[in-house]
Amino acid sequence: MPVEYPPRLLMCPPRHFEVSYSINPWMDREAWRKYADTFAQTTEAEWLSLKALLEQFGAVVDLMVPVPEVPDLVFTANAAVVLDGKALLARFRYPERRLEEPHFAAAIDALVKRNILKSSVSLPAYIVLEGAGDCIWDPQRELFWIGFGPRSSKQATMIVEDTFGFPTLSMDLVDARFYHLDTAFSVLSNGEIMYFKGALSSSSLRMLYEHVNICDRIEVSEQDACSMCLNGIRIGRRLIFSSCSPRLQRQLADRGYFASVTSLSSFMLSGGSAFGLTLRTGHASRRHPRARPRTQRATPNLGDLHSYGMVTAADWIAA
Ligand code: ARG
Repeated sequence: MPVEYPPRLLMCPPRHFEVSYSINPWMDREAWRKYADTFAQTTEAEWLSLKALLEQFGAVVDLMVPVPEVPDLVFTANAAVVLDGKALLARFRYPERRLEEPHFAAAIDALVKRNILKSSVSLPAYIVLEGAGDCIWDPQRELFWIGFGPRSSKQATMIVEDTFGFPTLSMDLVDARFYHLDTAFSVLSNGEIMYFKGALSSSSLRMLYEHVNICDRIEVSEQDACSMCLNGIRIGRRLIFSSCSPRLQRQLADRGYFASVTSLSSFMLSGGSAFGLTLRTGHASRRHPRARPRTQRATPNLGDLHSYGMVTAADWIAA
């Protein structure tokens, strides 16, 4: 089985991270202020542990420069949608996050200059799309799942289809706590979809059931959703969460996934977790020349999964 490129991620060190405004129900300025000293210590340690874990699992991390007064710049998942070397730059709904747009554009530009990406394009002026946080690539089905409602606009679907040449499925987000699709919905390497039912409208759920076979649906509890387990990162069959109930961990292990937990409590106070803190820049479709040849669904190999630092070819399948 040929080894493909390791997953590549853009991250932003949390030097200026804080909760200084509130644009989602998680953002508790008072709690942040009250425990500012504790958070000052934990934020960097938590971020560094996440980065170390990603690198241990074989990911390559590119860093962008942290900038004062744009505290949510750490959430690089919102920078752009990336596929086949092309980046569609984000536009934010709220003015506080619109200030991040030029910094994310510069970071993506730097990746283009380094030949890590091929090109970047902007959205039309009136369209909001908050990057991969609301537009999740599904490598098995070769389509994007797009969340709309609280942040991104529904018209973004046409732009995504035109830009990348792949279909989209729109998910209507109906619970303010799950304001980005990546807080309510997660795509695993073998094509399973983890989701919290309460965050999706009934028509979106119907669409999900139409496109995802029952054995590939993993419905999570409200408790797991509220611990942001749907905002985890997958590196092949390894999954990284800020927290995940033993029940869900067992369910995932039965399907051949190995979960690692690393606390990201200070970022959760802003409404984001592991997925939000990273942007995948290496997603490639089957038609892309860099794409690895696809094989059958990877067969779980538990011995393999438990050898932590070891990265095997099987891990890169649908990474
Ligand atoms: N405070 C940020 C916001 O409300 C958190 C973003 C988290 N990112 C994500 N992809 N879920 O926009």
